[in-house]
Amino acid sequence: MKLSGRHLLGLENMSRDELDLILETAVSFKEVLERPIKKVPPLQGKTIANLFFESSTRTRISFELAERRLSADVISFSQSGSSVSKGETLKDTARNIEAMKIDMVVVRHASAGAAHFLSRVVDANIINAGDGAHEHPTQGLLDMFTLREKHGSLENLRVCVVGDILHSRVARSNIYGLQTMGAKVSVCGPATLIPREIERMGVAVYHRLEDVIPEVDALNVLRVQLERQKRGLFPSLREYHRYFGVTKEKVQKASRPLTIMHPGPINRDVELSADLADSEHSVILQQVTNGVAVRMAVLYLLGTV
Ligand code: CP
Repeated sequence: MKLSGRHLLGLENMSRDELDLILETAVSFKEVLERPIKKVPPLQGKTIANLFFESSTRTRISFELAERRLSADVISFSQSGSSVSKGETLKDTARNIEAMKIDMVVVRHASAGAAHFLSRVVDANIINAGDGAHEHPTQGLLDMFTLREKHGSLENLRVCVVGDILHSRVARSNIYGLQTMGAKVSVCGPATLIPREIERMGVAVYHRLEDVIPEVDALNVLRVQLERQKRGLFPSLREYHRYFGVTKEKVQKASRPLTIMHPGPINRDVELSADLADSEHSVILQQVTNGVAVRMAVLYLLGTV
């Protein structure tokens, strides 16, 4: 089986078979990453450009590592220090990079739709590494991989995405991917941070952590994205923590131990208490480890057809 498209732009329109293929392929690559020699040859001779127009630690390092583990040649670009800071457009930057015979482009951009746009103007395979508040498909995939590894199956797994849903590409990719795999997805946060009509996506909406904690198997806690908020959407970080901060005390009310996830970077003691982030409930560092295997799977499946 193959993926149906040449690009990974989002999880919205991916089938269950395609998601399964990526997750199963990632299982094989996770095994490769546990070997003493972690490098395999499938992308030998391919050149991949990582275009990061927005800050990143995890995604960027994870993609670079995944590309090198697959033996690709890698070039990485960030907005600062490039000709974008002199006014060059995204299209011109990408076309110039493509003129250097690049096979695949991994792109992170502050504008929703940037990855779709690139897929229309360049011939390389495009992988979306996060576009504005739209989607972050490899984060959704690594979250699903980590949940499946911990719980055995995603079918009927009850997952709540907590916090700033309005500005979150991670929430959107999780909702699309998890629902396709048969999970029951809910969201919880202040009304000002939950998009209107989100119920149309088939998710249950909660406004009190105390109500949702007894009902779920896992909480995926989102970072409060202060840089994307144009106006005060809650009174203070202290108040946010009091009502929506996930703490050890609150999760003790769960009927069974909850799995705690966070895409990073964490605002410790704002959306998630530091002791819970570092506790046995947390799979946050497993998410990071799994991110490399999942990105290897995506690069392999797109780059070897
Ligand atoms: N989870 C995530 O996308 O982290 P970075 O912004 O550090 O890449």
